[in-house]
Amino acid sequence: LRPTIGIIGAGKVGSTLARLLYKTGYEITAVYSRTPEKVRALAEKTDATIANQLSDVVKNANLILLTVSDDAIETIATELASCDWQGRAIVHTSGAAGIEKLQSLADASAMVGSLHPAFPFADVESAMEKLAGASFAVEAPDGQLKIWLQDIVVALDGQVILIPEGKKALYHAALVIASNYTVTLYAIAQQMLKNLDADSEAIDNALTTLVQATVENIASQGIPDALTGPLSRADTGTIQSHLAAIDDYTLATAYIALARLSFPMLQQRGINTHLIEKLLQDSHNETSHDS
Ligand SMILES: NC(=O)c1ccc[n+]([C@@H]2O[C@H](COP(=O)([O-])OP(=O)(O)OC[C@H]3O[C@@H](n4cnc5c(N)ncnc54)[C@H](OP(=O)(O)O)[C@@H]3O)[C@@H](O)[C@H]2O)c1
Repeated sequence: LRPTIGIIGAGKVGSTLARLLYKTGYEITAVYSRTPEKVRALAEKTDATIANQLSDVVKNANLILLTVSDDAIETIATELASCDWQGRAIVHTSGAAGIEKLQSLADASAMVGSLHPAFPFADVESAMEKLAGASFAVEAPDGQLKIWLQDIVVALDGQVILIPEGKKALYHAALVIASNYTVTLYAIAQQMLKNLDADSEAIDNALTTLVQATVENIASQGIPDALTGPLSRADTGTIQSHLAAIDDYTLATAYIALARLSFPMLQQRGINTHLIEKLLQDSHNETSHDS
């Protein structure tokens, strides 16, 4: 049986999930948010009751989606601890936080979990259009809650990434490495090219073309085949020339670390990494000595 859904926090994530779930036939029973216009708009679009108090959402739903800012999760959980949680569940949608933020409610017999859409919610309308196909991290130690959340993801045409208890920070670190640090690496490359007095527009054109083609290669060929460049050819002369050209200590250290982190992909492709490692070690010793 599908649970009835209550929403606390009519922001981008709360409004998008509530409206999409409503469209797929879920009953949204109550909505709470601090801003009256937001809560009214969402209640109208989902045929839900406007809850005047947080506790009214709990009274009226089996599953509460706590879609508030990360910093507000624990405070609201504490405020809700005196409600009757028997047979009810609550999940937050933070990527970084684990279920420990809901401990006060677990102590009050609630089933607690988290449901993180790995998707950037710029605004409600565009998120509603594009969310289908996204992956959702599901953390749910309770079997009933796990089924409810998996069903929700399926209803949203998404895919489930099950996160073992206590591993949410590692999951989030992985997303940050893939997403945020791609931007960092882009910014580093952009600055290196700007230092050569190259034209800014041409630089961005070169780099966005490379990054887009790389992402497409990852999607079509997967790991390790999407890796191109000197490492994939064991081209030690080119790697040596890069390390000789980079005169910034932190950047040289990062280049060496990233090369070493690429070794598992090279080994999968049958490339002997010993020569490359020797070269990196020599260069690292030189860089450390110079600095
Ligand atoms: N944005 C994303 O791309 C994204 C992606 C995945 C997951 N998430 C996660 O989803 C959650 C919500 O993010 P969002 O982007 O939807 O944020 P948002 O648009 O800023 O919405 C946050 C909501 O939380 C409510 N809120 C904040 N503090 C509150 C408090 N003390 N008491 C009651 N309500 C409070 C706000 O209510 P009022 O406006 O009515 O005050 C607002 O409706 C966060 O945990 C975030 O990490 C976000």
